Amino acid sequence: MSRTIRYGIIGAGAVSDFHHVPGIQLDPRAELVAICDPDESLMQSRQQDWGPTRCCTDYRELAADPDVDAVIIATPNFLHREQALACVRNGKHVMCEKPLGLNFAESTEMYREAVAAGVRHMTAFTYRFAPSMRYVRHLLKSGALGVPRHFRSQRFLDLPETSWGWRQIRSLAGAGDLFDMTIHRIDFAQDLLGPITSVCGAIQQYAPRNVTADGSPCPASEVDDWSSLIGFFACGAVGVWEGSTLMKGHNNNGVGYEWAEINGSEGSAAYQLTDPNHVMLALNGRDLERTPVPEEFLKPAGSPRDPGAGKPSTVFRYDLVYELTSAILEERDAEPGFHHGAMAQAVADSVLLAFEKRSWVDIKASLDNGSL
Ligand SMILES: NC(=O)c1ccc[n+]([C@@H]2O[C@H](COP(=O)([O-])OP(=O)(O)OC[C@H]3O[C@@H](n4cnc5c(N)ncnc54)[C@H](O)[C@@H]3O)[C@@H](O)[C@H]2O)c1
Repeated sequence: MSRTIRYGIIGAGAVSDFHHVPGIQLDPRAELVAICDPDESLMQSRQQDWGPTRCCTDYRELAADPDVDAVIIATPNFLHREQALACVRNGKHVMCEKPLGLNFAESTEMYREAVAAGVRHMTAFTYRFAPSMRYVRHLLKSGALGVPRHFRSQRFLDLPETSWGWRQIRSLAGAGDLFDMTIHRIDFAQDLLGPITSVCGAIQQYAPRNVTADGSPCPASEVDDWSSLIGFFACGAVGVWEGSTLMKGHNNNGVGYEWAEINGSEGSAAYQLTDPNHVMLALNGRDLERTPVPEEFLKPAGSPRDPGAGKPSTVFRYDLVYELTSAILEERDAEPGFHHGAMAQAVADSVLLAFEKRSWVDIKASLDNGSL
């Protein structure tokens, strides 16, 4: 029996327009039926672009709507917890944007409540869905790279140094680059190599961001715009991460530069966001070579997306909705779930703790003694 999953979206801002609505529109099993945002003029213009839906300004109304099956939460970070709890308590399946909560405690509460409610839950860790990431994962898991030794992630953007809005207020965002960008890279590293057990790290703020894009003064940034960590994985590998939006020369039409690489005992493989349908691959003692991602890794099996259509660094993002819709219809867990969001948060929180204490943080010990 065919069934349509009726989606509601809380937060009609940039990421909903960029990923989630195109993902819903592409999947014949999904339909956008309701949106919620306090900005009524934004909702009006979304009706032109996304098609007509029910609209409300209070998320509780959407969370209780009996004609909504699943909700995508794409609001400022401080709202994720309360909105996700309202949705799962009303029996809605939920995809929530990253960072899942403002800290590990919030994220685990969200996970526990979603499990208790028996709904499907998903954290929107986008880059797991890049074709090259899916292929690097296969190469690693199939043993082609040998025993993993090193992981490295670099995410550089060259963006204007003006205000980030809610993203630069600590109580609304939690942290800056660390929670905005690096947390994705922590997640895919743990997906590839398993849990990170200890970290040290540092964050830094350079840009005051006390003017808006139109030159008006505004409250200054309270968060990092550069973040880094070194982490050991339980499997024995070691990783190094660096991210920043202040990397002059790395604008690249707004896409920036991203490189994530695994060096194993038998070979190396690297993913690049700017070239997601190829990997850089070195096997059998050869140097890294640009290698096409095989057909079966260009999208999840069954995805309605044409891998040849659209801008490669954008279109794989549409597969997030395909994953949640499939998980609901197939009555299985969605990947990545809220627990993956919580585990990435545990590592990100540990980076802040390590920097504050200027020492290494043992993640399991910190979870056990409640310091995270
Ligand atoms: N997965 C990714 O690749 C990715 C990319 C970008 C952003 N994000 C995440 O998505 C979230 C949203 O980011 P964005 O860039 O779209 O931000 P944005 O500021 O463009 O949009 C946020 C929207 O939420 C609305 N909003 C504010 N309070 C609300 C409330 N109480 N109820 C309903 N709506 C409310 C705002 O009016 C705005 O339209 C953040 O958590 C961010 O970290 C993830």
